[in-house]
Amino acid sequence: MAIHDIVYLGDPALRTEAAEVTVFDDNLRALVRDMFETMYHADGIGLAAPQIGLSTRVIVVDLRRQDEDDPEPQRIAIVNPVVTWESKEVEKQTEGCLSIPGLEEVVRRPAQVRVEGQDPDGNDIVIEADDLFGRALQHEIDHIDGILFVDRVSPLKRRMLLKKWKKIEAEAAAEAG
Ligand code: NI
Repeated sequence: MAIHDIVYLGDPALRTEAAEVTVFDDNLRALVRDMFETMYHADGIGLAAPQIGLSTRVIVVDLRRQDEDDPEPQRIAIVNPVVTWESKEVEKQTEGCLSIPGLEEVVRRPAQVRVEGQDPDGNDIVIEADDLFGRALQHEIDHIDGILFVDRVSPLKRRMLLKKWKKIEAEAAAEAG
């Protein structure tokens, strides 16, 4: 297993519509294992392949909840995930992203979604998810379409976020000398 470098806002991989997976082999399963490892290492709850620079439609989510009574699935890898239904009801929650560290903003999303796709062995998956799980899936599926959470806020907030990101980047560059 290997931990991969996460790419940041500004990297073209984050703005590319990723390619459909057609081959379900050991390479794909190794990629999924690496993505989980990379996500845990970065202390995130979700990761999409474009975030490690790979333009392929694979996402992983693991909420790592401590609540043993919660029957909802908490850990999943989905290949070629598609939102096939979303509730009219929307919810607002603060989101962040491993590819835009240091930024957070409230994002409106459908409260509940149905997601279809395949598992890493090629078996069909259909899941319905709400709360944080549903939100994390929507956020990661956005990634494989080249969409980031900063695209889902008002133009004014987006400008503020991008300005703050420029400052974070400049500070990082200065520290790196
Ligand atoms: Ni993200």
